[in-house]
Amino acid sequence: MSTQVEALISSAPVMPVLVIDHVEDAVPLAQALVAGGLTILEVTLRTPNALTAIRRISAEVEGVMVGAGTVTNSDQLAAVQQAGGQFAISPGATPELLQSGIDSELPYLPAISTVSELMLAMGYGYRAFKFFPAESSGGAAALKAIAGPFPDIRFCPTGGIGLGNFLDYLSLPNVDCVGGSWVAPAKLIREQNWSAITQLAAEAVHQANQHNI
Ligand code: 3PG
Repeated sequence: MSTQVEALISSAPVMPVLVIDHVEDAVPLAQALVAGGLTILEVTLRTPNALTAIRRISAEVEGVMVGAGTVTNSDQLAAVQQAGGQFAISPGATPELLQSGIDSELPYLPAISTVSELMLAMGYGYRAFKFFPAESSGGAAALKAIAGPFPDIRFCPTGGIGLGNFLDYLSLPNVDCVGGSWVAPAKLIREQNWSAITQLAAEAVHQANQHNI
């Protein structure tokens, strides 16, 4: 479980965080991001049709890995697996979720925002985490400091990350990818401006490649 999730976060520099209000947007949105080079997608369980969106993306879009975000309890973790989600991500962690994540076959990424939360989750065997909310929890400087006592722990920070600061995170040795909604803004989804979303994705990939990340 743990190795799988580590492989997942190290396979793309940016993981789009998606809020899908209309299920008919799911497939064209995913296709737009994949066309721009971003192939690992987090669909947040913040809308009623998120699981349907995951099911459709996974059935209809080539070359994508799609999972669920905003997983806040064990029932949701099970529902994501049933819907064909390939991974699950939480904005935090609870003892219940940490245990369910260990018991589940689904790659699971819990989040931490403090060292004590990190140590608690490490006690369950976790070695990879989302760092959320990244910018307001100390940003790249905090993750750099955490690498001192915990050099082997891998992170995917999200929350307040965009084109202006994502390379600050990706250049840290303990960061494998960043997550963010900036590549799929609500306005562009509402306008169904898929080509603009492809451009945002391609720009993120281009910048990450240029910095050899
Ligand atoms: C998340 O859910 O992971 C974050 O809310 C994404 O944060 P952002 O919208 O600031 O990118």
